[in-house]
Amino acid sequence: MDVILRPTPKKAVSLVVRLIEETLKEKPAACLGLATGRTMEAVYAALVERSRKGAVDLSSCRFFALDEYIGLGPSDERSYHHYLHHHLFDPLGVSPENITLLNGLSGDHAGAAREYERAISNAGGIDLQLLGLGKNGHMGFNEPGSSLRSRTRDVILAEETLAQNAAMFGGDPQDVPPMAITMGVETILESKRCLMLVTGTSKQPALAATVEGPVTEMVTASALQLHPDCIVIADEAAGGKLDRMEDFRSKALRDPTWAARIENENQPR
Ligand code: GLP
Repeated sequence: MDVILRPTPKKAVSLVVRLIEETLKEKPAACLGLATGRTMEAVYAALVERSRKGAVDLSSCRFFALDEYIGLGPSDERSYHHYLHHHLFDPLGVSPENITLLNGLSGDHAGAAREYERAISNAGGIDLQLLGLGKNGHMGFNEPGSSLRSRTRDVILAEETLAQNAAMFGGDPQDVPPMAITMGVETILESKRCLMLVTGTSKQPALAATVEGPVTEMVTASALQLHPDCIVIADEAAGGKLDRMEDFRSKALRDPTWAARIENENQPR
């Protein structure tokens, strides 16, 4: 696991965008796995901006969503279907045939999950899986107690998650859909590269547990420690509880590959 701390959320986002662009340079028709949530909004805004400038071309990419609430349809503004269209697909003008999303309205969740796994595998697997981090250490909606061998499936959301996401549902955790469908931990770990972005002080304990704690199903993001090509980019606010904070902060300067990536990050690219 490569952990890099950047001084500000903006710099962390800029580094994530650079890594996405590296993947696309290598493989223009890459399969991208997409996380949702507030953290990722800045990444998608930057990608849209870079695409408008002609600096990146996502027209041949294929896109897969990480998770979805059960019971919310595509036109519901709180669904991840709507989120991804609003923040990324519509501004980029992505062709519908390049988009595969989880269906929150399927009456047959097990069947929809199997079909989703098949679609990922038929596309040749996910090349780059973008991930956010829940306050309880979840990735996707793999809540504490999810098997590290879990596949795409329907899940019951944890209380902390209902509270964390209540703001998008008018503020009351009771109004958040209680169930979701999510890629499993093992499904995520099969991605060729995982790229997690974590910002803000509220994620300090979860980030420390993910990066420096034991691999445990109580913190499903800790399973990323087992992935051979996982990058975690965080801002210093999120890294405040890491024992190795200093090392993760200076690594980008000591390692020539990372140093090249952050060079000129303040200049318009
Ligand atoms: C949510 C989603 C995740 C997301 C994470 C972080 O519950 N299921 O896909 O990455 O939690 O969300 P945020 O960026 O809003 O903190």
